[in-house]
Amino acid sequence: MTTRRDFLTSSAAAAAALSLRPQQAAAAAPTPRITASRPVVISSANGLRGVKVAYDRLTRGADTLDAIIAGVNIQELDADDQSVGIGGLPNADGVVQLDASCMHGPTKRAGSVGALEGIATPSLVAKAVMDYTDHIMLVGEGAKRFALAMGFKEQELLTEKTRQDWLRWRARLNKDDAWLDHDDDVAIKFTTGTINMNCVDAKGDISSVTTTSGMAWKIPGRIGDSPVIGAGQYCDNTVGAAGSTGRGEANIKVCGGFLTVEFMRQGLPPEQAVLRTLERLVAMTEQRLLRPDGRPNFDIQFYAVAKDGRYAAGTLYEGAQFAVCDEKGPRLEKCVHLFARPSR
Ligand code: GLY
Repeated sequence: MTTRRDFLTSSAAAAAALSLRPQQAAAAAPTPRITASRPVVISSANGLRGVKVAYDRLTRGADTLDAIIAGVNIQELDADDQSVGIGGLPNADGVVQLDASCMHGPTKRAGSVGALEGIATPSLVAKAVMDYTDHIMLVGEGAKRFALAMGFKEQELLTEKTRQDWLRWRARLNKDDAWLDHDDDVAIKFTTGTINMNCVDAKGDISSVTTTSGMAWKIPGRIGDSPVIGAGQYCDNTVGAAGSTGRGEANIKVCGGFLTVEFMRQGLPPEQAVLRTLERLVAMTEQRLLRPDGRPNFDIQFYAVAKDGRYAAGTLYEGAQFAVCDEKGPRLEKCVHLFARPSR
């Protein structure tokens, strides 16, 4: 009978026999040798306040992941941001289900939660999964029970504003149902919005986090890209970090966080890396989601920071911005784009 010890020993030997020689490995995955960096925090545009909080913490010596989680907590706890945390738009049943994930570059650890209900700060629950368990991803009822056991407080995440939005969405779903539509002129909100934040500190340590309420009106149980390590965000302390906001279903198919970091590992600067990821995503878009001109009928963004402090964000359609904070302070900058904005 093979014991666990035998198995581990023989697996390690097989892996060693199959592994590349050091020169080959270096050629396959060149990594920059950087030991000091220019501290910078970047995020989706809704993180303009958060990048300042994160940057201030970073430059006062906080851990990279603690700094950016403090940054995204601002949006998670802001009931007016309908794409994340309290006040996030609910699922088809009117229940807010949150997704989040994080990676800590220096320790190569990751944590994630999906379809979490009743806890306002899923980013902190994802970090608790990372810090206190041997797992990486917890979902649904198990994630909630874990959060409560860790001392997180349960609360109603649906606000009166989002409840009214949900009632309006439901009333207009089907003109033949029994729900009357009272306000034809009020636009139905929809979001695949999210907050992704990435940073590098002066030592060149890197972290990434993404948190979201996911796609508005989703089928209960739907999990987007945000909690998927390698899609919603990814971090490799030798290269950089990347993450995404926008249509998660499109990102999951290209593992966009991971792919962007891999493009940087191959030597591309962040703006080229995000554009190459967007090109791959367009190539992987199914026919039903393409407009007559062959371009996607949705938008999506990727954000990337390299170990040396270079950064960029990219969007399919011209016009999106992202938030940055470095020694020049917090500001919005333009995303690079693949396509001019379609005319209406
Ligand atoms: N990117 C957020 C989501 O699709 O859930």
